[in-house]
Formats: sequence, structure tokens, C-alpha cells
Amino acid sequence: MTASPPRIGGLDVESWGDPEDPIVLLIGAPERLSGDWRRSVRALVEAGRHVVLAADFDQTEDGPAALRRLLTEIPSRPAIVCADETLPVVAPALAVTGPALASCLVIVAAEGQGALSPEVETLLAGVPIQVVLRGDDAEAENAALLGFLERQAPREAMLYQAGSDPRTLRDALGCFATGVTVVTTLDEAGQPVGLTANSFSSVSLDPPLILFCLARSSTNVERFRQAEHFAINVLHIGQQPTSGVFARSQADRFQDVAWETWDTGAPILSGALASFECGTEQIVEAGDHLVIIGRVKRARFEPRRDPLLYFRGKYRRLHFS
Ligand SMILES: Cc1cc2nc3c(=O)[nH]c(=O)nc-3n(C[C@H](O)[C@H](O)[C@H](O)COP(=O)(O)O)c2cc1C
Repeated sequence: MTASPPRIGGLDVESWGDPEDPIVLLIGAPERLSGDWRRSVRALVEAGRHVVLAADFDQTEDGPAALRRLLTEIPSRPAIVCADETLPVVAPALAVTGPALASCLVIVAAEGQGALSPEVETLLAGVPIQVVLRGDDAEAENAALLGFLERQAPREAMLYQAGSDPRTLRDALGCFATGVTVVTTLDEAGQPVGLTANSFSSVSLDPPLILFCLARSSTNVERFRQAEHFAINVLHIGQQPTSGVFARSQADRFQDVAWETWDTGAPILSGALASFECGTEQIVEAGDHLVIIGRVKRARFEPRRDPLLYFRGKYRRLHFS
């Protein structure tokens, strides 16, 4: 997370995320919003929001006027998030023209403080409001915040059409969260080869079939085409460095990883979350990839570890246990 300190409307602000994304404006001391407010900022950025923090707002002399200035200088109507203690600044700033200045308002209130006074309700007329209770459960607080933002200030959907920019198609495909695997086999000389792949999928239980897709541009494409066996190793959360090694061109990717062999010789990474030893069943030529289907001969898995995830071009971890 990188922060840059620009000034908007004469005020110092901090910001995170892509400036092209819809803005979420946090007003007032962030500690009032959540005990772990940096985590909330991270969750907002990961959900595709540009977070702008105007922390010392309520300390300025003419708070409401300063907030109005800030809102008119922000290019699009932001979603505002403030603590209930900051409402004396926020509500007058949004009076009358509120819906033109802000897409919605999220008020973070302490338990028992969620009710708005009639006076504040009148000032905020027309602005969609959500009260989120500040509690011990930061995950629930973030989920309520993100859910409301998705409804009131949805991000503009991106469109891909056949023949247009392949980058947009790639981004659309990146919305499908996956695990990460290292696919391995032995070359003709009996040397281990392998690469990182997230195109793994189960295919059939009876017979037991799985697949992965291999780019034709892979330096290993002929080795996998010839191989009678291969293995899929599903990585756990601690194996991100291994994923990095097997995705980079490097003389010996197996140098620093422990591995073993079972029946076929295909390398099984020690400690992987799950490993599947397969016989090559079928290879389908499909565009710029080969779909390699394997029949599972043996599988082993570790029931207690979390997976390494991949989503929108970044490694991720599960947010719940
Ligand atoms: C998370 C992740 C997933 C990947 N998934 C695949 C995949 O499914 N198929 C593929 O051919 N390459 C995939 N790659 C790219 C290869 O790992 C990378 O191009 C590697 O350098 C190929 O090595 P090679 O040319 O030596 O086979 C992936 C890379 C990463 C980081």
C-alpha cells in the first residue's frame, strides 16, 4: 500500500489505490472508524476503491465549508465514510445539495449510537445512508461497508468483445479466483522440470481426471507433450516463494525445494497442500495453449493448511479460517 500526500480543497489528504477507481472519502481521525483502519483501507483498495483520507477535517475552524470545498474539487461524487462523532461537520456540509456532492454516506457508530437525530436526517435528506456498527469484528464491519458501496456506488463494469483488447479479456478472466499449482514432470534425460500454473481444474471423479493448460510458448511444451506422467502440486500459503521460482526463467528451479518421487518419477513437492500423480490421458490443442488431461494415480493432501490463492493478478490469502 503506498500513500501519497496531495492537497485537495486546501486540505492535506492521504490516498491509496488507483486514482481511476471510484473514490471513498474517509473524514476525520481514522482511528474512530475502525480499530484496524489500515486493514479497512486495504480491503477497500482490494475491492477496487480509491481511498482518500482527510484526517484533520473536524479540527479545521470552518469544518462544513471546508468539506464542501473538498467535495466540489473531487472530480466524481465520492462515497463518504465518517464516524458518528464527525457528523456535526459532515451533515451541514451535505445540506440541500448533498446528493449532488456525495454518492452515499456510511456512518460508523458505536453500539447504541446508531440512531440519527431528526435534525441530522433533515440535513442529509436524499443521501443514501448506511450505519455500520463499530465493533470487535473488523471483518463484519468491512463486509457491511463494502456491500453498501457495491449497491450505492457500483464500479463501472468493464466490457470485452471478441476481437478487442486481449488485456481486458485477461482482466475479466482474472476475476476467477484460483489456487496456485506447480506442474512437474521428468524430461527425457530424467531431469525434473516444472512450472507454476493456475489453470488446474478437476474434470471427472469416475474415471479420476484432472487438467491443466500449458502455454505453447512454454520452454517445456515438448517435454510435457512427450511425458507419460506428470504431477500437480497445489501450493499452500507459505509457498508463494516457490510459485515465484517456478514462474521465472531460472536454470534449476528445483535447486532450493525439497521433492520426492512416487511411482512414476514425476516430482512431488514435499509439504505441498495437495499433490496428484497422473498418467497423461489426453492432450487437446486449444488455441495458444495445450489442455493436458491426466488420470490421477495417487493423491495426497494436507487437511489443515490454507491455500495460496491468485486473484486479479495478485497472490491472496483466505480471509477467514
Ligand atoms: C500464478 C501464475 C499462474 C500461471 N499459470 C500458468 C498456466 O496455467 N499455464 C501456463 O502455461 N503458464 C502459467 N503461468 C506462467 C508460467 O509459470 C511461466 O510462464 C513460466 O515461466 C513458464 O516456464 P517454462 O517456459 O519454463 O515452462 C503462470 C504464472 C503464474 C505466476
